[in-house]
Amino acid sequence: MRSHSVSAEGGASAVLYPKETGDSLDLHAYDTVKGSDFLADQDAVELLVREAPKEIIFMDHLGVPWSRDEKGRILQRPFGGMSIPRTTFAQDKSGFFLMSTLYDNVLRFDNVEMLHEHFVTSLLMDHGGVFRGVTAIDLRTGEFKVILAKAGIIATGGNGRVYKFTTMAWSSTGDGYSLAYRAGIPLKDMEFPQFHPTALVPNGILITEGARGGEGGYLINKEGERFMKRYAPSKMELAPRDIVSRAIITECMEGRGFIDEESGLCYVLLDLRHLGEERINKRLPMIREIAIKTLGIDPVDEPIPVRPAMHYMMGGIHVDLYGQVMLDEDKTRVPNLWAAGEAANVSVHGANRLGSNSLSECLVWGRLTGEAAAKYAMSAPPDSMLEYTGDIATKVANEESRIFDKLLHKEVGAENPYSIREEMNRTMDTYVYVFRDKSGLEEAYSTIKRLRERFPNVRIEDKGRYYNTNLRDVLELDFLLEQAELIIVGALTRTESRGAHYRLDYPKRDDVNWLKHTLYFYTTDGPRLSYVPVRITRWKPEERKY
Ligand code: FUM
Repeated sequence: MRSHSVSAEGGASAVLYPKETGDSLDLHAYDTVKGSDFLADQDAVELLVREAPKEIIFMDHLGVPWSRDEKGRILQRPFGGMSIPRTTFAQDKSGFFLMSTLYDNVLRFDNVEMLHEHFVTSLLMDHGGVFRGVTAIDLRTGEFKVILAKAGIIATGGNGRVYKFTTMAWSSTGDGYSLAYRAGIPLKDMEFPQFHPTALVPNGILITEGARGGEGGYLINKEGERFMKRYAPSKMELAPRDIVSRAIITECMEGRGFIDEESGLCYVLLDLRHLGEERINKRLPMIREIAIKTLGIDPVDEPIPVRPAMHYMMGGIHVDLYGQVMLDEDKTRVPNLWAAGEAANVSVHGANRLGSNSLSECLVWGRLTGEAAAKYAMSAPPDSMLEYTGDIATKVANEESRIFDKLLHKEVGAENPYSIREEMNRTMDTYVYVFRDKSGLEEAYSTIKRLRERFPNVRIEDKGRYYNTNLRDVLELDFLLEQAELIIVGALTRTESRGAHYRLDYPKRDDVNWLKHTLYFYTTDGPRLSYVPVRITRWKPEERKY
């Protein structure tokens, strides 16, 4: 329940009322493909929109308290880049209610064993490319464990904590990406972190797009102007995230933003006052509470300060249409391993995710991968995984030695891991943000390389075993540094602008050379990049206008 999904606010997209609203699966798919700047795989998008409505109803039956109208029908609100209101929500706590409902339901089954407070350190893959389980540390005791499995699903979420200014929780350190990558599984499209336009300044807490889109909040610059009219005249504040984020930062760069004294961050204002207290209390109670408690500002009376923050990783583990993990460009699957949610790149979001499509993705691929993994595990021979020898035993021994001998019990070490993390965060916030260019990315690359060279010399002060959060932080830092490097290498290599990846030195989309996905393969000298085509079924790339 500390996963970042509990913080999801706005809701989950699905076509629920096509007759009344004129909505359709095709329209949802088209909005998503256009929003993705045509980098989404269109067969995956079609699967998403087809399955999402069933999952919303399934969650309703499980007990999610979706917000409803006076007749008791599930409500939907507009979100950025969606041409019809189709974001299903539970106030502004949609993720919290989804997670609580799922957790409560899992408790009904006494054959589900949960290993709380376990930190996975490596994936165990055998020579034949079969998943055998994981190594993990039980944080409560410090015990190093081998957990064998007939099948697995990686659902470890995103890596927002590569950045400092992020809406994402402390737990969002992208462990699953590095675990897979180090085990020889390629990652895909890591050059595409998404920046959510409205995070509270200076703390980065998410202010849901529901406030701007669904409920009609305004974005205002220092001159009191609703500046979105110059960037997306028809959609205004309801334009997709990449466009709104660039608009806010452009306002800042051109001197029409405000400066926060404490952090030095430039921001604009989100004005909700015209909604009135009753509507804010009903639809956005958490936003009001957060603004009052953390800034002492009541959005009923005053606009709130916001700017774009790292919010979501659109890249992820390379999987096929059904979430099964792939080992190469397009031929070899791991027979018993899947990935789902933000950890995976099934590629429904391409270069720019539309808000509320990710909770739907979690629901749809949660089911697809869960069913496939369960089916595989139930048909696997009962004792096939009960022991490990040979290569797997060597991997386990090496992993234990890496953590306990080389990191924890190392006698000397001059580097403070928290200073390295600070510098990584600062570098990413400065050079790998909404706008990028070659020289900034090169600067970021050399800094991260230097930090990675310093990493083996980190000092872990706490030598104890019980709840050693110092050790955990260092293991996470190792993952984060690796992912920072991948994001930068991908961003440097992609010499075009597409969706959330905007290169000031290559401001145009370049379909001739870059209508393709990037794959990142692990090598000891850094990532080897390769490419796979975008799967286009029905919608030919066109210029995006809003
Ligand atoms: O703005 C939001 O509520 C975020 C939603 C999302 O990222 O899907």
